[in-house]
Amino acid sequence: MSPGMGLSFTAMNPNSIESTMKESRVFPPDEEFSKHAHIRSMEQYRALYEKSLNDPEAFWGEMADALHWFAPPREILVDERPHARWFVGGTTNIAYNCLDRHLSSLRRNKAAILWEGEPGETRTLTYHQLHREVCRFANVLRKLGVRTGDRVAIYMGMVPEIAVAMLACARIGAPHMVIFGGFAADAVRDRINDSKASLVVTCDGSWRRGQVVPLKAIVDKAIAECPSVRHTVVFKRTGERVNMEPGRDHYWQEVIEAVNANSTPVPVESEHPLFILYTSGTTGKPKGIVHTTGGYMVGTHVTSKYVFDLRENDTYFCTADVGWITGHSYVVYGPLLNGATVLMYEGAPNFPDQGRLWQLCERYGVTIFYTAPTAIRAFMRWGEQWPMKADLSCLRLLGSVGEPINPEAWMWYQRVIGNARCPVVDTWWQTETGAIMLSPLPGATPTKPGSATLPFFGIEADVVRKDGTRCAPNEGGFLVIKRPWPSMARTIYGDDERYQKYFTEIPGVYFTGDGARRDDDGYFWLMGRVDDVLNVAGHRLGTAEIESALVGHRAVAEAAVVGRPDELKGQGLVCFVTLRPGFAATRELKQVLAEHVASEIGRFARPDMVRFADALPKTRSGKIMRRLLKEIAGGGETQGDTTTLEDLSVLAALRASDDE
Ligand code: WTA
Repeated sequence: MSPGMGLSFTAMNPNSIESTMKESRVFPPDEEFSKHAHIRSMEQYRALYEKSLNDPEAFWGEMADALHWFAPPREILVDERPHARWFVGGTTNIAYNCLDRHLSSLRRNKAAILWEGEPGETRTLTYHQLHREVCRFANVLRKLGVRTGDRVAIYMGMVPEIAVAMLACARIGAPHMVIFGGFAADAVRDRINDSKASLVVTCDGSWRRGQVVPLKAIVDKAIAECPSVRHTVVFKRTGERVNMEPGRDHYWQEVIEAVNANSTPVPVESEHPLFILYTSGTTGKPKGIVHTTGGYMVGTHVTSKYVFDLRENDTYFCTADVGWITGHSYVVYGPLLNGATVLMYEGAPNFPDQGRLWQLCERYGVTIFYTAPTAIRAFMRWGEQWPMKADLSCLRLLGSVGEPINPEAWMWYQRVIGNARCPVVDTWWQTETGAIMLSPLPGATPTKPGSATLPFFGIEADVVRKDGTRCAPNEGGFLVIKRPWPSMARTIYGDDERYQKYFTEIPGVYFTGDGARRDDDGYFWLMGRVDDVLNVAGHRLGTAEIESALVGHRAVAEAAVVGRPDELKGQGLVCFVTLRPGFAATRELKQVLAEHVASEIGRFARPDMVRFADALPKTRSGKIMRRLLKEIAGGGETQGDTTTLEDLSVLAALRASDDE
């Protein structure tokens, strides 16, 4: 069930999802950490949380006051569900708030971006320098005819200029549309055509695992079929020879020389669109999620501050690519709004070896590290020797986002990377929510491995049945948000009807598409996407818990579980498993793993089949594409969109793999 996909609940068992996970470890916040934290106790969290729900206008009004408005908001919220408008009547500029606002303080000469290229070059941009680059690029955009409201496509690697380009767009009120630099020409073309961008900012190439990704050549191919594009600006990164069409294509380094650094930020309405970001979903046509200025700004500012407990002297490293929402909200906007120092790394985590990220943490003195479970499971597979080689003593906080983190991976992260000393914040949110929705606050919330714990301020989250009634404790159901929040998406570009479906699946509330349960303490445990839910002999099971049981076995590095039609049981379980080094893919091991699931989850959940694979098909942001596995498990051909798949050869290998 994916909201906006036109699927309905009728295809599913009407009730709830069964939970079988038994995880009872609790980690209270570290006393020393709490002493210095923004939020120091559960009492403080609860008091503020209650205030945020009881008097949202006062709460969000105060949060907005922390930022600069050219004209203050007249009204905090106009709730016209499914639509909502925030900070109405206010005018602001997010680039001004990320940059100019800091220039009159000591932050002026503080590092905004520390950058390292994959081959090893380094650059530092202070707030003053970043401001200057953004002003100049804003002038370039203007000179090339970009007006307030025009869409600008950004298809670049992880270089500081990707942030410069986004902030320059924001400065002149031109919504940006970032396309992840790993997408192929067709995906680039479709996104540009859907958004009708008039200008594309790109690079000649970018470095990835020692190879050059030919970004400009891909853009050339894409825009041959994009009538809206009038200009491209090409940042020279790798020095590739690229095709430059006179009049259309301009080198960044040349056009930037022809402008000055005087640029007045354009005050825009709070509801002025800030960006479009396409989210693949797991099926169908990508949706252009639209975020607006004021609410997104307030949401990313306040969540960055409290969830990461940002302090003035932190070095903050989020490993996400800027091409994803995590990169938008927690590489660029959230940290810069807080005047933080952000480390940005261009390349692959295992280049030249599997120690690269830990090397970076050591050399830059990283204090806050934010990554995804898929990466954590890769680190586990690569082995403890890599992080052990580096001095990680500067780290003080670890974060996770993107998928349910299985308790096993959580414990490993906490023990090996955090040296059992750093709080782990498992943050649940979505492209659509713009900012973190469920998360521990590190100085206050006792954490439980595998749980995203409790809602952030102002977020009224709940777990309900199909009919909207609240689930009992530990009864799995649908994760919903019961009232608007500032950083929520405002529409799907060009398709508001599809947007409204988020609010009609369960009437009156926002349906996330995720399954979850709340435990006796009210903690949230995510169970995976509801459209991946399995129905085995009358038991409705989320994928996350079965996968977590598999990964709990020492032979297993990663697992994905799907159902295939079964006359007797409704669905039988098929488990795709990648093994840790040193374990052989034997028939005996298959039996052992099937037994392991049966003993952890229950006899009824004994897998029909365990299949070994060298790799699992993932989206480019690291999410397992269970839809494709389902098709393989069912013996059919894989159909539908595979443009979001990271590595097509994985599919062929899976089909060819033994399946006795
Ligand atoms: C999943 C990424 C469990 C979830 C910010 C959600 C998670 C989807 C978590 C959004 C988490 C994200 N625990 N599941 N901490 N974080 N998800 O749009 O299924 O790329 O709906 O946004 O990722 O993915 P998106």
